[in-house]
Amino acid sequence: MSAATRIRAIHARRIWDSRGRPTLEAEVVLADAAGVAVTGRASVPAGASRGTREALELRDGGTRLGGLDVQRALAHVEGEIAQALLGADAADQAGLDARLVALDGTPAKTRLGANATLAVSLAAAHAAAAAQGLPLYRWLGGDAATLVPLPQIQIFGGGAHAGRRVDIQDFMVVATGACGFAQALEWTAEVYRAAGALMAERGALHGVADEGGWWPDFATNEQGLETLVRAIERAGFVPGEQVAIALDVAASEFGRAGRYRLGLERRELARDAWIELVLGWLDRYPVVSIEDPLAEDDLEGFAQLARAAGARVQIVGDDLLVSDAALVRAAAARGAANCVLLKPNQRGTLSELRTAWDAARAAGWAGIVSARSGETEDTSIVHLALGWGVGQLKVGAFARGERMAKWNEGLRLEQALGARARFAGRSVLGRSAAG
Ligand code: PGA
Ligand code: ZN
Repeated sequence: MSAATRIRAIHARRIWDSRGRPTLEAEVVLADAAGVAVTGRASVPAGASRGTREALELRDGGTRLGGLDVQRALAHVEGEIAQALLGADAADQAGLDARLVALDGTPAKTRLGANATLAVSLAAAHAAAAAQGLPLYRWLGGDAATLVPLPQIQIFGGGAHAGRRVDIQDFMVVATGACGFAQALEWTAEVYRAAGALMAERGALHGVADEGGWWPDFATNEQGLETLVRAIERAGFVPGEQVAIALDVAASEFGRAGRYRLGLERRELARDAWIELVLGWLDRYPVVSIEDPLAEDDLEGFAQLARAAGARVQIVGDDLLVSDAALVRAAAARGAANCVLLKPNQRGTLSELRTAWDAARAAGWAGIVSARSGETEDTSIVHLALGWGVGQLKVGAFARGERMAKWNEGLRLEQALGARARFAGRSVLGRSAAG
């Protein structure tokens, strides 16, 4: 180990996320050859529509702050974790993460909390990068890190992020015809504005949902899809050619044991009828990607949908897979999806997240690095997407500081790469789950 990457101190503090809830931020301090401190800092997001197999986000419980305070996780970082990692090499991410996993000793980080372990795992990566004088993406991916991600950007927010006003959680656009990240953002800005104007004309503009997408004042789920197509057209783009649609159905929120209860439309469908309904949407609208179209307990439903549609649409597992390598392998064996959503806090260390991405790639799948609905201004996920060459990035809408911080970081990285930047457009989308 070089003395420059030896961990000298670990600090943690409570900060506040985009919903005004407590979360953790950690700092890992190294000292360079001249003894000057080098610090890496990272914070932890929080989901609202979580998969049941996610690693545990440790909260204090009780009544203060709705039980959401993180003093116990904070104490774990400054106590046990700091003790175990002081003197360790921040440049050895795999070694550090293995120590965190062993120290916790449970399958889902239920003892220390995945929020405690992730803050340290990610802050250590930042510290190691800083010690080398490199941006995080280059520390992670070296010279090969040139694939700028295709963004999935929310236009309407629904589901658990909008009081369940509609069942579908994210109505997003993907600028598949753009020639770079900057152009994809500019086109999305036009669509987001056009969507707001359409809602205002209908007297249906009521601010935004948790991730910044327009409030989904629709009579049916399908009306959201229709409005999105009209917004793409009104912004001057050809739907499906230049700008396509991506959905996150987040069906675990309303489906269980093979039954799907649509709150908005007041009906309950059995799995087969629900799949027929989804396939109808895929036929009638230019959808190129659909996330969690079935519930997390319905691998068979995923496989059925993939057999019917997997060659023409990206099928993404979020709650189904919770960024877990073993679950990715099991789903791949069934042909149940063709893309993994990668959320660092679903597992709690960078190395475990990387293992899930490696498993997906080995299966020929695509990947999307994703934010959570409760976010901070931390932009690490943009560096993960670029550094690991994942190809796609999902951050929520084109509004609100915690979202724009990430989109704007992507612009900086694309510009820094200059002529070396590659933007692969639609070719990064997953295909053919069922072979
Ligand atoms: P969450 O949802 O961050 O609120 O859990 C985001 C998603 O389902 O992708
Ligand atoms: Zn999701």
